[in-house]
Amino acid sequence: MIQKYIFGTYIETEAVVKEIAESVGQIPYLTKESDHVFTYQMGEDDIVYGLGESIRGMNKRGWVYEAYCNDDPNHIENIRSLYGAHNFFLVDGAETFGVFVDAPQKVQFDIGYTEREMMKITIAEGGYVIYIVEGDSPSEIVREFRSLIGRSYIPPKWAFGYGQSRWGYKNEADIRKVAEEYRKRDMPLDSIYLDIDYMERYKDFTVDKEKFPDLKGLAEDMKAQGIHLVPIIDAAVKVEEGYEVYEEGLEKGYFCKKENGDVFTAGVWPGKSHFPDFLNEEARQWFGKRYKVLLDQGIEGFWNDMNEPAIFYSEDHMREVFEKLEEYKSKNLDVDTFFAMKDLVLQTANRAEDYRSFYHNYKGENICHDRVHNLYGYYMTRAAQEAFEHLEPEKRILMYSRASYIGMHRYGGIWTGDNQSWWSHILLNIHQLPGLNMCGFLYTGADLGGFGSDVTEDLLMRWLELGIFTPLMRNHSAMGTREQEIYRFGNEEVFCNILGLRYALLPYIYSEFMKAVLKEEMMFRPLAFIYPKDVQARNVEDQLMVGESIMIAPVYTQNAKGRYVYLPEEMKLYRMRSEADMDVEVLSAGHHYVKAELNETLIFIRPDHIVPLAKAGQCVEKIDVSKLWLLSFIKDGAQYELYDDDGYSKDYNVEAHLTKITVEKDGRVGIDGAMKSECVVV
Ligand code: GLC
Repeated sequence: MIQKYIFGTYIETEAVVKEIAESVGQIPYLTKESDHVFTYQMGEDDIVYGLGESIRGMNKRGWVYEAYCNDDPNHIENIRSLYGAHNFFLVDGAETFGVFVDAPQKVQFDIGYTEREMMKITIAEGGYVIYIVEGDSPSEIVREFRSLIGRSYIPPKWAFGYGQSRWGYKNEADIRKVAEEYRKRDMPLDSIYLDIDYMERYKDFTVDKEKFPDLKGLAEDMKAQGIHLVPIIDAAVKVEEGYEVYEEGLEKGYFCKKENGDVFTAGVWPGKSHFPDFLNEEARQWFGKRYKVLLDQGIEGFWNDMNEPAIFYSEDHMREVFEKLEEYKSKNLDVDTFFAMKDLVLQTANRAEDYRSFYHNYKGENICHDRVHNLYGYYMTRAAQEAFEHLEPEKRILMYSRASYIGMHRYGGIWTGDNQSWWSHILLNIHQLPGLNMCGFLYTGADLGGFGSDVTEDLLMRWLELGIFTPLMRNHSAMGTREQEIYRFGNEEVFCNILGLRYALLPYIYSEFMKAVLKEEMMFRPLAFIYPKDVQARNVEDQLMVGESIMIAPVYTQNAKGRYVYLPEEMKLYRMRSEADMDVEVLSAGHHYVKAELNETLIFIRPDHIVPLAKAGQCVEKIDVSKLWLLSFIKDGAQYELYDDDGYSKDYNVEAHLTKITVEKDGRVGIDGAMKSECVVV
């Protein structure tokens, strides 16, 4: 059951798709302390799940989080915001309920930070809506919530293949080289990413003709090898005379303006830029149509970036900075003055004052950006997807974004931004997955291997062993860091096998993803969602249930040759060295130390469950499903419903796309439905 409470005059976010009548009277569970503050007294054993991609553990207790989309590459424990604003959480304990604070302005969730057992929600100035979601279990509550916010975005099937990316591929030759290195080693690959260097001086919707003289030809050649090119699009538009997007945007009034009516100018990658007013429907359509330039060159996927929006500096503030520096020139720089000067120069990015200094034309009203900050990336991605529906109505186009708000999950996926090549960030990746799924973000993944810092071979292997399970599986790294394409390292065979395992598992990953989307379920669940009565399962923060059959326990510590794993029930462990090389053991319920060498991925199968493995191919299209090897743990017999479709059209009829695979107690195998594969139990 969902109840809706309206407080003040709120700004419509379009996060919700279901019509719900407003409830009157006192809001349940929460105590209203003042116009913008609510509290909840948490019980000793309550767990708080949710808040999407935010920092820290799966259980969010013990920190303060701020929903305010933030371009911060330091994903360390003491920050409060990352790129997304995902205001849904779920309390599981003495009382079990979900809360969605639908507010595009800043919202703070103090979950036992100020006072250990107290939750305090503080919403910045302006109206808002709160939805209270009830159900019999956490899973039921999430399902209810997801039905409120609408169906998650579905990418093309090739986007479940492995992608190679690096901020640093400068030209066509670099791209061809990556493809060649993969293909000559028979390593699977479905996409290569184009970062900002493909553009002419970082101008959206342009291609640098010197570096990429024939993008269309390149895209065709790549596609012939089963590889898709995926270019980046940044939010801000470069100020440059003669640049059509800039000139048209300016002429039509599609950029955000300051209070005095001047267009707001700030620096991002291209230097001085303007910010398209994605909240203005006309501007949104205008920007969306621009993707056509690239679609026309054979491009079928994009990533939207810098759309919090990231601001390196604003023109107005820079003027103040330079004036102040002039003053400092003649000063005796004592300790306070010196540090004040340093801060002045170092703290020009993403300033609250800048976000308060420009405006949107939203539904005919002039609204200060600060009030709708969290909608910016969402509406940029919406601009693209709405245009795709018009330009390519029959086809799925890959789209994912860095900034997001709940509601954007209908228009695209997200990646989790600029992480680091740190072991702790593998764990952070594990923590983020269920929170994201709750909020509708199913097509998601981290920069595998880490974006910033120097990677090591073992870290990359371990991270990929987790990435095998995430719908978006992309290796991405920053300029200046150690090169991290898998062929840069000695152990090519191990990397090949890890990727091979992903491709062999792909029918399961795709099937579980699609079922999660269509049935409004989570693909990654905390153990407690499946084993609610198991007190120990409630404390597990580094294992996940992936779809209906698998539990994973990724290794995320340096030099470890195994790890402790908690099994809420007896399970069968497949220790996979490749799609065809594995050993198998049955482990009883309880705690175990489980060995996992660097080349081994642990897959735990639940009793009476099945996981089909296909024969991997060099790209998703070449995966051979004519024979399926069934990983299974049979006690009384099991059935698995495998969802499959053509992977690019938009017919998602579940019944038509399901194949039922059964394994009887005596080992007999059956298959019934759209697929006619031969099945063998392994
Ligand atoms: C941002 C993105 C990163 C990208 C870089 C250059 O930091 O998060 O993925 O490589 O910009 O475009």
